[in-house]
Amino acid sequence: MYNGGKIFIGIIVFLGIVTFPLYYNLGRADTPPKPSLNTPVINQMKVKHCVEPKAFMRADHMQLLMQWRDSALRDGERVYISSTGERYDISLQNTCLHCHANKAKFCDRCHIYMAVHPYCWSCHFAPEKENKL
Ligand code: HEC
Ligand code: HEC
Ligand code: HEC
Repeated sequence: MYNGGKIFIGIIVFLGIVTFPLYYNLGRADTPPKPSLNTPVINQMKVKHCVEPKAFMRADHMQLLMQWRDSALRDGERVYISSTGERYDISLQNTCLHCHANKAKFCDRCHIYMAVHPYCWSCHFAPEKENKL
């Protein structure tokens, strides 16, 4: 039997569910996160820069971290040579969080906004929440 009314309601419910992430984010669209660079180490840098250019870091820091983990643990390689030839110790805690010591106002601020939940901190040390940075 053909029931146009039920199908129509079904389509409305379906559209509501698949577009939920779109309008759920609408109200927040005007407050993009501003990751804070206000840490002692970064404030002391003459030319403020990351291990790779900012645009690359913004888009690809997760891949870089996975690459770091694999090279440290699988290949025993614990030094990273950046695209500009700088040397960095391969360490989430001692390198990334040495500069970005304000995890809550840097990493977390973006991740909470984007609803990403990296599971790294159940093992890796992160600066305390009450960190004033
Ligand atoms: C030597 C200090 C230093 C280290 C080490 C460092 N960063 Fe950065 N990072 C910075 C600075 C300074 C900026 C801002 C760069 C700019 O404005 O050009 C930045 C930018 C970024 C950005 C982009 C932020 C934005 O607003 O788009 C991400 C993401 C990031 N870093 C993640 C990391 C990760 C992950 C690591 C470790 C793999 C790391 N950083 C290591 C200093 C550092
Ligand atoms: C400019 C915003 C921004 C900043 C700052 C930032 N992240 Fe991210 N991060 C993201 C986004 C967006 C994703 C999800 C990207 C995706 O899924 O393709 C992500 C994903 C990740 C992932 C992968 C998570 C997963 O489950 O796939 C890791 C690990 C990570 N970030 C670590 C860090 C660390 C450590 C810092 C601070 C040093 C940091 N991020 C700072 C935006 C940011
Ligand atoms: C189940 C525990 C566990 C989780 C979860 C975990 N790691 Fe690790 N990770 C380790 C251990 C153990 C090492 C080895 C430490 C060493 O030998 O220096 C390591 C090493 C690393 C290294 C290289 C050395 C260092 O000290 O940074 C990176 C980079 C890294 N992990 C990134 C990540 C990222 C990014 C995540 C989240 C997406 C993550 N890990 C989640 C346990 C974990």
